[in-house]
Amino acid sequence: MKKTIFSGMQPTSVPQIGNYLGAIKNWGALQSQYNSLYCVVDLHAITVRQDPDELRKNTLGLLALYIAAGLDPDENIIYVQSHYNGHTELAWVLSCFAYMGELGRMTQYKDKSAKHSDNVNVGLFNYPVLMAADILLFGTHLVPVGDDQKQHLELARDIATRFNNVYGDIFIVPEPFIAKEGARIMSLANPEKKMSKSDDEANRVSLLDAPDVVMKKFKRAVTDSETEIRYDVENKPGISNLLEIYAVTTGVTIDDAVAEFAGAGYGTLKTTVGQAVVDNIIDPIQKKYDELIKNEDYLQKIMRQNAQRAKEMGDPILHKVKKSVGFII
Ligand code: TYM
Repeated sequence: MKKTIFSGMQPTSVPQIGNYLGAIKNWGALQSQYNSLYCVVDLHAITVRQDPDELRKNTLGLLALYIAAGLDPDENIIYVQSHYNGHTELAWVLSCFAYMGELGRMTQYKDKSAKHSDNVNVGLFNYPVLMAADILLFGTHLVPVGDDQKQHLELARDIATRFNNVYGDIFIVPEPFIAKEGARIMSLANPEKKMSKSDDEANRVSLLDAPDVVMKKFKRAVTDSETEIRYDVENKPGISNLLEIYAVTTGVTIDDAVAEFAGAGYGTLKTTVGQAVVDNIIDPIQKKYDELIKNEDYLQKIMRQNAQRAKEMGDPILHKVKKSVGFII
């Protein structure tokens, strides 16, 4: 029996190369060894105000990007979170097993409530409980994510353990999968800051940016006033980020990347890394994406069929949960 993977991404704007290198690339690499569910988490997206038409467009676009980036929609369950109500049902039960104190300590909650101080809604606070529900609903063993989701995953593990301590072994306690390299890609314009898809245009390289725009963003990447190319995250965050992007994109080690650029100038580093991103990520993904996005009937079919498959997997676990807590079923 294959073990189960669950992971997801918010359809807020278009994914950036950090989302690809920290998450989707690993999903593709793991897909044949696991039963995998890859979800477009639209319920999470509305914790920040979204334009309805944009959200619909981004949801369909993200589903197409999952496939364009190499996820096989027959082998994996690729679907939209709001199409299966098991997520919200389980989230309610789990919210009665999560504490205000632990949710208040989540760094993402603190960051987002500072950024959206006019809309610090309960959903933003409760978000990690919905994420725990996403994962625990399917008996997930492994959750491949970037570094910024580590704290949420630890909370999901705590909630699962707390519930199991009361009702017996209902949930599998999931393990995170966070790659050693590529799990925290930084902004090119501000390498002290994580690259984020909801950030300003200059701070991110979107998977749908035109190749010349990608090259321009790399050429403008902020570095430092030295000339030596070495990997030193603390003192040379810009150069280290470029080396890491290069290593993960081309599949070499960071040491190999450093050796390859020995004696080269920063300009060469920037254009070589940019070109590697265009050749290995941007071009192949966009070629497939442009075809897929024209075929809405196909994408609709995939998302509906796969939501049904997700329901078939999640409902038996939800049933056990309801029975455990004492609901009449
Ligand atoms: P989201 O949509 O912010 O990001 C999706 C995935 O991309 C990773 N990521 C990065 N990796 C490397 N460098 C970066 N700069 C970078 N930025 C983002 C994220 O770590 C993530 O893996 N809460 C989640 C979505 C979610 C989820 C889940 C994930 C909802 N339910 C259940 C796993 C399991 C989020 O907001 O991801």
